[in-house]
Amino acid sequence: MHKTPLLDQLESGPWPSFVKDLKRVAGRKKSAADLLGVLERSYKDKITHWKHGGIVGVLGYGSGIIGRYIDIPDEFPGVEHFHTVRVNQPSGWFYTTAALRDLCDIWDRHGSSILNVHGSTGDMIFLGTTTDELEPTFAELTAKGWDLGGSGSAMRTPSCCVGKARCEWSCYDTMDLCYQVTQDFQFEMHRPSFPYKFKVKCSGCPNDCVAAVARADMSVIGVWKDDIRIDQAAVKAYAAGEIKPAGGGTVYTKLDIKADVTDLCPTICMSYEGGKLSIDNKNCNHCMHCINMMPQALRPGTEGGATLLLGSHAPILEGAQMSWVIVPFMAMEAPYEPFIDLIGRIHEWWSENGKNRERVGELMLRLGMRNFFLGVDLPAPSQTVRTPRANPFFFWHAEDFEAEAAGRKYIK
Ligand code: HEM
Ligand code: HEM
Ligand code: SF4
Ligand code: SF4
Repeated sequence: MHKTPLLDQLESGPWPSFVKDLKRVAGRKKSAADLLGVLERSYKDKITHWKHGGIVGVLGYGSGIIGRYIDIPDEFPGVEHFHTVRVNQPSGWFYTTAALRDLCDIWDRHGSSILNVHGSTGDMIFLGTTTDELEPTFAELTAKGWDLGGSGSAMRTPSCCVGKARCEWSCYDTMDLCYQVTQDFQFEMHRPSFPYKFKVKCSGCPNDCVAAVARADMSVIGVWKDDIRIDQAAVKAYAAGEIKPAGGGTVYTKLDIKADVTDLCPTICMSYEGGKLSIDNKNCNHCMHCINMMPQALRPGTEGGATLLLGSHAPILEGAQMSWVIVPFMAMEAPYEPFIDLIGRIHEWWSENGKNRERVGELMLRLGMRNFFLGVDLPAPSQTVRTPRANPFFFWHAEDFEAEAAGRKYIK
């Protein structure tokens, strides 16, 4: 074992330390011992010793495995190669304990035995193995029904919130959609052929538990079309303190309906008068605030579907960009043809016009929303106008004039 005085300090804090975990593994895995050694060395040298490496993978797949090599292999032979393997998580991220044991056993046999369950990709990450262990790992995974996730300029592993399996707010079946998207885009997931990565994340309601709006190129956010369901008796029970705020998990003994709920409605479309809560649903923007505050009194409507947003990513130079609404409402029912079809058109437009390493959101910014909607053959909804009437320069297309000359006011 290497001496690691700097890393050892990390064990002294109040939280469980990865250093302690890795030391435990280091007793039986040379790679874990050398992993600690390299990190200590990097702390001392103040540079990383990992380098971007050549292509590694398994036969037939272009993605799912991320190559890593070290620049001082003589000193740390245990991590000379230390590739990571992305394993596609099941929808909703539910595993049986038997499945988890299988995965751990496979990784014990073929890799460092260090893994991280659900990083930002949603995948399970097997951290660190050598090139010659990749095919055997893959063979054992597939024999048990597992598949690799996406990496590189490919469709990335789709992910979703627990949705209808556990959450009463889900406005469509997120797990089913996620599974279907995974099946429909097998080719694009395993064989990178896009300008850059493309992520689909599915949340069942605007609470957006998978943070799709911030992290997915295509964010699918469940939403309802009709009115918020109100149980007036439960509203009264909240007002009287019979139902505790946050299930009793706060210092407050009762909800102040005006201060905590109606006054905080962003569109001011709610009122509470004479013990009765009313909502002007036409002006509700579905923020979920009131429903989150009074889950026993309020529920989303019953006519569910999803809002589609496109374009979020977090480039280093410009900073994070949220995705934009492109379809205010789409019904989400199996086999999700309109949705799958739209994704196909977006891929096509992006692949044709995007530069290398340009995410679809950046392309939308570069060419403009108007070109995007024309390019993917979608009607432009008013929700996409970012700052209405702020821009005095409107550039007409030649087709617009031609259409007008032909007697039509607007072209589609
Ligand atoms: C022991 C020190 C390490 C710490 C504290 C650490 C921490 C992290 C964190 C915080 C993330 C992001 C998790 C998230 O997505 O939410 C991450 C992801 C990742 N790490 Fe590490 N890491 C460590 C060592 C390593 C090493 C040694 C490698 C490979 C040589 C590695 C490879 C990766 C990869 C490939 C991902 C992306 C996983 C994904 O696709 O989500 N990490 N790590
Ligand atoms: C100056 C140094 C580096 C910069 C500026 C950099 C930048 C980036 C950027 C911008 C991404 C894409 C992030 C995203 O949009 O999700 C990325 C991904 C990644 N980087 Fe680096 N990187 C650096 C060094 C490294 C090193 C030294 C390694 C490993 C030896 C590494 C491993 C990775 C991996 C595994 C991914 C994920 C690839 C994938 O998901 O397909 N990076 N890096
Ligand atoms: S996003 Fe909405 S539906 Fe999905 S788990 Fe969160 S609260 Fe429930
Ligand atoms: S969901 Fe948001 S916008 Fe709609 S009524 Fe409730 S607080 Fe207001």
